[in-house]
Amino acid sequence: MKLAVFCSGRGSNLKALLMARDNGLLPGAEFQVVVTDNKGAGAMSIARDHGVMAVVVPRSAFHENRDGFERRLVEVLEPYGVELVVLAGFQRVLGATFLGAFPNRVVNIHPALLPAFPGHMVWKAEVDYGVRLAGATVHFVDGGVDSGPIIIQGAVPALSGDGPDELAQRILSVEHRILPQAVAWLAQGRVVLDGRKVSISGLRPSEEDVLQSIVWPPLEIGK
Ligand code: GRF
Repeated sequence: MKLAVFCSGRGSNLKALLMARDNGLLPGAEFQVVVTDNKGAGAMSIARDHGVMAVVVPRSAFHENRDGFERRLVEVLEPYGVELVVLAGFQRVLGATFLGAFPNRVVNIHPALLPAFPGHMVWKAEVDYGVRLAGATVHFVDGGVDSGPIIIQGAVPALSGDGPDELAQRILSVEHRILPQAVAWLAQGRVVLDGRKVSISGLRPSEEDVLQSIVWPPLEIGK
């Protein structure tokens, strides 16, 4: 499956994907191009270091014209025959013009357990709310804000002393595990979408897998 990854900044999720590929964990995933709206994005050099073409499409060049920006993104992907677009820290909401060109073919990683805390800068909101579990979600993009069908989620505890930065760091570690897993399933053609429901064909979780729950703070009784 031919992939494009869209990033706006640091690119640590892109790096997790490319390292998984380099370690032979993503058979069938062909990373064709990395696209960024920010020429200073760290993701650019990560792409180059891993031998993947990187292209800048500056949003500013399109002023208030979101359609024009999205048409340009579609044009940029055309020569690569892209079949799946992975938004890995892409700070733009994509609308009908782009999504229409890749129906059910765009996924995003979001640093919260959706549907809680959609949108930007969620870590402070989670700390202020006092959540006990935080985490990350990989989901299909449907034109809403972080509202599409969920493929995989990973939870981490929010510790009492956490500020937004500490929590973000812990969430990032689970992002780097669930995004490569989601892309592996997608590249293997095992992700089945039925309305809002996603299933992974051929998944055989053990009873232990199913019963394992994440409780935080940890139980002292009834373990
Ligand atoms: C991640 O927290 C991702 O979930 C969010 O933006 C951040 C991007 O980080 N959408 P990086 O560029 O992958 O390091």
